[in-house]
Amino acid sequence: MQKNASLVVVLGTGGTIAGTALSSSDDSVYTAAQLSIAQLLATVPGLAGVPIEAEQVAQVDSKDMSHAIWQVLAQRVAHHLARAEVAGIAITHGTDTLEETAYFLQRVLAPTKPVVLTGAMRPATSAQADGPRNLLDAVAVARHAGDAGLSGVLAVLHGTVHGARQVRKAHPARLDAFDSGEDGPLATVDNGVLRRLPAHAAVPASGHLPPLTAALHCAVADWPRVEIVVSHAGASGALVRALCTDGVDGLVVAATGNGTLHHEIEAALLTAQAQGVAVRRSARSGDGRVVLQPGAQGLPGADDLSPVKARIELMLALMPAGAR
Ligand code: SIN
Repeated sequence: MQKNASLVVVLGTGGTIAGTALSSSDDSVYTAAQLSIAQLLATVPGLAGVPIEAEQVAQVDSKDMSHAIWQVLAQRVAHHLARAEVAGIAITHGTDTLEETAYFLQRVLAPTKPVVLTGAMRPATSAQADGPRNLLDAVAVARHAGDAGLSGVLAVLHGTVHGARQVRKAHPARLDAFDSGEDGPLATVDNGVLRRLPAHAAVPASGHLPPLTAALHCAVADWPRVEIVVSHAGASGALVRALCTDGVDGLVVAATGNGTLHHEIEAALLTAQAQGVAVRRSARSGDGRVVLQPGAQGLPGADDLSPVKARIELMLALMPAGAR
């Protein structure tokens, strides 16, 4: 990066932050992904004079986020990160799958410059829209994260900075809908000023895992198919068997307790694994990690990854390295 690189590239992908309602008093009935990224930037007076380039990468309600959009987004982020004049990237995104996109970009790119996702819980037309402040904060973090010792993929919402591995949507409606579980957030941002939270003073936001870059080039149709199943009271192995018959490559099971499984789903998963399907067990409890006994046989754990992030990790791990 140029010593005084200051350009922020803002990539738009849709979401409630770009949503519109019929009335400015309506915060809950609206259509996501209506305004362009250029229109959104125009609603943030605080960004006047800040060197910004905008690009519309997608325009979706993030419940419909696809692998195809992920690939294009990762390619565009990689393209802009390679430009010396770019200090960082901000991405506007729906909140529903923001944590998945954040983790995907982190694992595919492991960027050393900041890549900052943000969204909003209220549409852009709301009299009390939260999007403009979140976008202002995201741009500030994209420009100045390095000064606070932060890099990699981050999420900035409601004045709080989260790491890609930890961030999760923890509430369907509250303005402060996001948290970082028991690890806690990395920093706060207030009027453009970033403050690192002491608990994380020594922990790099991005982790040390090398990037799994095959997703940048591998044809999306060839991406491994990894699905999530849940262990619960009264569970059976029927879904697992059906998915195996349907040709699944990997399965993540959202497990009870410390990775425990209903004996029927466990038997089906062990059979699947013996047939060549990769299986990981993730905790369905939200916090904590699956800690298996040393030397334990059977189904590997997914450490602290939530089921949706464990799915991404397994999919990337199964992706053929040289595929095009
Ligand atoms: C979406 O995820 O695109 C809609 C919901 C939101 O952004 O809050």
